[in-house]
Amino acid sequence: MTDRGEQGADERGERGEDERGERLATALRARLGGIGYGGDYNPEQWPEDVWADDVRLMTEAGVNLVSLGIFAWARVQPDPETFDWGWLDRVMDLLADGGVAVCLATMTASPPPWLARLHPETLPVRPDGTVLWPGARQHFTPSSQVYRDHATRLVERLATRYAGHPALAAWHVGNEYGCHVSGSYGDVDAVAFRDWLRRRYRTIDALNEAWSTTFWSQRYAAWDEINPPRQTPTFPNPAQRIDFRRFSSDALLECFLAEKEVLRRVTPDVPITTNFVPLRDTLDLHAWARHEDVVSYDSYPDPADPGAHVDAAFGFDLMRSLKDGAPWLLLEQAPAAVNWRRVNRPKAPGQMRLWSWLAVGHGADAVMFFQWRASRGGAEKYHSAMVPHAGTGTRTFREVRELGRELAAVPEIAGTRVRAPVALVLDWPSWWGLEQDGHPSGLLRQREANLAHYAPLFGAGVACDVVRPSADLSGYRLVVVPNLYMITESDAANLTGFVRAGGRLVVSFFSGVVDDRDRVHPGGAPGPLADVLGLRVAEFWPLAKGEHVDVEEAEPGWFDGGAARGSLWSEEVRLDEASPLATFASGVLAGRPAATRNRFGGGAAYYLATRPDPAAMNSVLRRVCREAGAAPDLPNLPEGAEAAVRHAEDGTRFVIVLNHDDDGPVTVPLPPGGVDPRDGTDVVAPYRLGARGVLVVRYPPSPTGSRHGGPA
Ligand code: GAL
Repeated sequence: MTDRGEQGADERGERGEDERGERLATALRARLGGIGYGGDYNPEQWPEDVWADDVRLMTEAGVNLVSLGIFAWARVQPDPETFDWGWLDRVMDLLADGGVAVCLATMTASPPPWLARLHPETLPVRPDGTVLWPGARQHFTPSSQVYRDHATRLVERLATRYAGHPALAAWHVGNEYGCHVSGSYGDVDAVAFRDWLRRRYRTIDALNEAWSTTFWSQRYAAWDEINPPRQTPTFPNPAQRIDFRRFSSDALLECFLAEKEVLRRVTPDVPITTNFVPLRDTLDLHAWARHEDVVSYDSYPDPADPGAHVDAAFGFDLMRSLKDGAPWLLLEQAPAAVNWRRVNRPKAPGQMRLWSWLAVGHGADAVMFFQWRASRGGAEKYHSAMVPHAGTGTRTFREVRELGRELAAVPEIAGTRVRAPVALVLDWPSWWGLEQDGHPSGLLRQREANLAHYAPLFGAGVACDVVRPSADLSGYRLVVVPNLYMITESDAANLTGFVRAGGRLVVSFFSGVVDDRDRVHPGGAPGPLADVLGLRVAEFWPLAKGEHVDVEEAEPGWFDGGAARGSLWSEEVRLDEASPLATFASGVLAGRPAATRNRFGGGAAYYLATRPDPAAMNSVLRRVCREAGAAPDLPNLPEGAEAAVRHAEDGTRFVIVLNHDDDGPVTVPLPPGGVDPRDGTDVVAPYRLGARGVLVVRYPPSPTGSRHGGPA
């Protein structure tokens, strides 16, 4: 077959998988009869007489889905030849009788101690050679074929045993891949890394070229000379490190796919998911998500951080975008406190409900917790649970029960979608490149860049997807690139084409610097974005921690009060076609452009050569949104209030209004025509929403499809 033919087959295969995923996700929704509600259920930690009580309380709390047996491998397979399913059979039967569906774990996230005793080479290794031993969890290297064989053998037995069981609704593969060990540097890994590199580069010369190994005499003569980027005397080869991140994400993905292959074969009609960790640089989620039938996510915002909900919402928007807007499952959150921060503050009254609805507002079709019943022993005994140590007479259980009832009253929200006029671009390999050593500034962080650009959009109530740089951008009015340090020619062409076709693009500094091999683009930044941005960067002038530079408008209307303060970065920009919107007003770059606009094709591209202070970022992004015609779903909301909208296929809209303010009520100017979906009563505007309050309003389809009678 020609390359083209293979590519066509790949695409068809991918489309087939997408369609199957969508069908299975729809079936799961139908089975749950609305939003999924429940948590991680670990009955193996409890005597059997507790189980019946668990199921009774689950019914009381409105639980319709549990993730079962995530850490039960050692209990199910106490030695290589013995399988003990009896207890799990009884739990599955109890749950089926109680009407609770099961997202059954494949149990492979924590191998039993015998695996390490028999096969110590399955243990992961740090860059300095330290072996990570059993005694916690995730003590396996993904490259170990021995681990994979034992894992798939278990999964084959598990799937065969429970195929057709009435409780089985979905598969939960592994658990939070890469959470504790995102890469392993041992000998097993070295062999697998070399194989991966051979597939990628074919010849050692191509690898030498890609890794710029003529530098510092790193040129390799044979594959066997190559190792994972272990502890080195000074900066390791950056291209090698980026490839190792790619390889490590792929190695974990191969573990997932090996289990998926078994599950698909034995239970073709059961949807498959794995829960992603709260947004991190570990896995390339764009590469992972297409292999899941439904995306799922764990979210642990810090109740002590007043801005935590914005960060959480960013992760939610990413989850939704990973499968082109398909609803996703919030598989874990804390009912109150976690146990792994230095000081673990519980969620305040109402905060768990507020943040659960935040997830639903941003596209979640399930609201689940870690965990059902608080553990008596082990490292997580101080982590909150739906049923706390103090029992069901607690605030936490009361809030859990009330939320269960509330979600059950609005089943029609499940399956509806969010519509976003703005996309923010995020790319993992670029993230890996950005945060390496030996750069102009060690202060740049992808997450911080994302949030600096996302928070103003969130504050303005403009819905935002989070997409890969190669995504189809044609449905968006505005695309925001907080940082794309690494960019390929084709991704740059995608962004350029978007602007040419009439879109607005915002790009911040230190973008378009290197290609996918971490080699600086000829001519330097912004590389292949130079045309669309209409400028070149001559020299970087990064700012020290706490250092600021003054910025003033060159064109009126960009900053409140006409001026701003930049931090983190400044640079000497040479304008080609672009015109300055603001200039630096202090320091060596005084008088030079700090923000620019380039009218290009039917659209415009804006560039920020520093990080304006938060108020200035707000005014810049609000202004660009206006120019782009990217409107909020519900205009004129008071500070602290948010309105997220989910759209049904028939035009019905569910507006989820949230008051993120801890202190006081807000008055929300809702459009007329909305009803409370729980009882069908009219919602009268303006509506007064208390601190941490939630209001869900349903708007019928408007007869003309116009904006009258409800939000956009
Ligand atoms: C997650 C993990 C759970 C539990 C939880 C505690 O990372 O998947 O098993 O450990 O954190 O917050």
